[in-house]
Amino acid sequence: MPLRGFEGRLCYGGDYNPEQWPEHVWVEDVQLMRQCGVNLVTVGVFAWSMLEPAPGQYEFGWLDRVLDLLHDNGISVVLATPTASPPPWFGFAHPDALPVTRDGVRLVHGSRDAYCPSAPAYRAAARRIATALAQRYAGHPALALWHVHNEYGTVCYCDHAAAAFRRWLRDRYGTLDALNEAWTTAFWSQRYADWEHVLPPRATPYLANPAQLLDFRRFCSDELLACFREQRDVLRELTPDVPVTTNFAIAPWVPIDPWAWAREVDLVAIDHYPSSNDGLAAEEETAFVADLARGWAGGRTWLLMEQAPDIVHNGGWMVPKRPGQLTRLSLSHVARGSLGVMNFQWRASPGGAEAFMSAMVPHAGPDARSLREVTHLGAQLANLGRHDGPVAADVALVWDPHSWWALQGPGLPAPGLDYWAMCRHVHGSAWRLGVTVDIVAPGEPLSGYRLVLVPALFLTTASAADAIKSFVDSGGHVVVWYLSGVADTNVRVHRGGWPGLLATTLGVRVERHYPLPHQATVALDPAGTGSSWSELVRPEGAEALLRYAKGDLAGEPAVTVHAGRAWYVSTRLDDATQQRFLAQVFAAANVAPAAPGAGHGVEVVRRGQRLYAINHTTSPAEIGAPSQGSQTGLRIEPGTYLVTDVDNLVTDIDSAAHR
Ligand code: GAL
Repeated sequence: MPLRGFEGRLCYGGDYNPEQWPEHVWVEDVQLMRQCGVNLVTVGVFAWSMLEPAPGQYEFGWLDRVLDLLHDNGISVVLATPTASPPPWFGFAHPDALPVTRDGVRLVHGSRDAYCPSAPAYRAAARRIATALAQRYAGHPALALWHVHNEYGTVCYCDHAAAAFRRWLRDRYGTLDALNEAWTTAFWSQRYADWEHVLPPRATPYLANPAQLLDFRRFCSDELLACFREQRDVLRELTPDVPVTTNFAIAPWVPIDPWAWAREVDLVAIDHYPSSNDGLAAEEETAFVADLARGWAGGRTWLLMEQAPDIVHNGGWMVPKRPGQLTRLSLSHVARGSLGVMNFQWRASPGGAEAFMSAMVPHAGPDARSLREVTHLGAQLANLGRHDGPVAADVALVWDPHSWWALQGPGLPAPGLDYWAMCRHVHGSAWRLGVTVDIVAPGEPLSGYRLVLVPALFLTTASAADAIKSFVDSGGHVVVWYLSGVADTNVRVHRGGWPGLLATTLGVRVERHYPLPHQATVALDPAGTGSSWSELVRPEGAEALLRYAKGDLAGEPAVTVHAGRAWYVSTRLDDATQQRFLAQVFAAANVAPAAPGAGHGVEVVRRGQRLYAINHTTSPAEIGAPSQGSQTGLRIEPGTYLVTDVDNLVTDIDSAAHR
């Protein structure tokens, strides 16, 4: 369903929390929004206690005035349902609906997210406020999009959750015998003889059951999705022409399967806060999450619903973005399929736990460098306009949240097996080589690609393995990294050697894991180093490209290739070696950068007839036309971008000059 009013133009704006300010500030807000080119704001995300100050008593007057003011100034609204933060009265009225931690502590209001997703009282209260909002604002001309809740992810271990978990398990397994088998409950005397004895993974004396933990995450994803659906259905019924979304958070703690959720929203929306600003880490990460979002959206457009306009959370520190970085990162999202650029938040909060988060209007007031950048970006986006051409990619990366969750489980061969970091390393290496990558779910058909990258597909199902096998059998190229094919969907270990169901395709059999100690490296022959992980790999048809040079594995294969198109990598290659290796793979698979000259911080994405080129480096860059193969063409000044026609390399749209 199209985003109303945004045909041909990009969205620009952010979370707007006018309830934190007196009304005279609202007038300044909309004036400034117009100056900055803001055309869309998200309202009401955390406004439940202001909208429903007592059960069933609504105060919509202030929100009426906000929506009217925005509409009068040409600004559309993403209207949120405020269900991520129930008011204090809610917990007093329904103490059983407050969340309980795995240690059995019942949490109370005072922050946000104080609810149990499975509590009937919470579900009813959430439906009621969503209904009241939809009844009130159906037909309001400012309403462009519904934003249900905020960053679904709350987990609860209470008795309501336990009952719902058991219902979910009964649906999944049918019988207790099947559950016992799937959870390997013969181990440590965990066999269940009564459904009522099955609990969420509450605090337990020693290592918890990995399959129980994994199923609980899956249950949480489905249970939260049920919460979303209930509200979505109310909104669809009352406002059938308004699309409905929710903003996906991307973090290890989030128990959401975005592949499943993406099928339920009218528009995929994500929040992204890069976790490091060292070197080009934020740039690489941005490209990765934007590619993820496009993957979840099935290759279609999606929306960056939140980013920080002026900070990166760098290892716990809030560091200001570099000059021009806001524009460059935003353009990366747009190039990779976002319908626009939304920020958290419009005006910095006067107090509260997030008062020091950056905002489009900082505490310093409008006369500040960050607002000038925000204004500059608004002008750039208005100038670019919307262009929905498909992103061109010959390479796919298989991404699996279930493997991510399982690799956070207990009892693994090494601590810190970071699935996210492994995927980032593979995707980032392709990014540095200028190659655009699509992200796909395990088991999806791969026939449109030349090359498929498979980092740490720890849980490999038959359908995922079959998709890879038939891709390779029909001439495709694949690279599989260590920790793939280790276990099935219930973390039951594959017998007969790894990578399990992928072993024949790759022509190898891994006999034994040799996790490497933290910060240890192993030399490779003829060049390079490995770290983090190594393995005893037996070739069964494959040839060694790199071997371990020292230690217990000296002389054994580290990287292999089978039939010239199925590679296996058994260690974390250092950056330079991984890039050299991938360059070789790209050449074999006939994969080229998005344009000659792309890579090493010069990000180029081809989208339909448009070429987006962003120079994240401090040196001038030059790119050529993709069809011409020569690197001479357009010069891109350090820190700037240009958007141009694919074949002509004519700068038909202004390049950014903000530095
Ligand atoms: C987001 C969240 C916002 C706000 C923001 C602060 O993850 O959705 O509500 O908390 O982080 O950076």
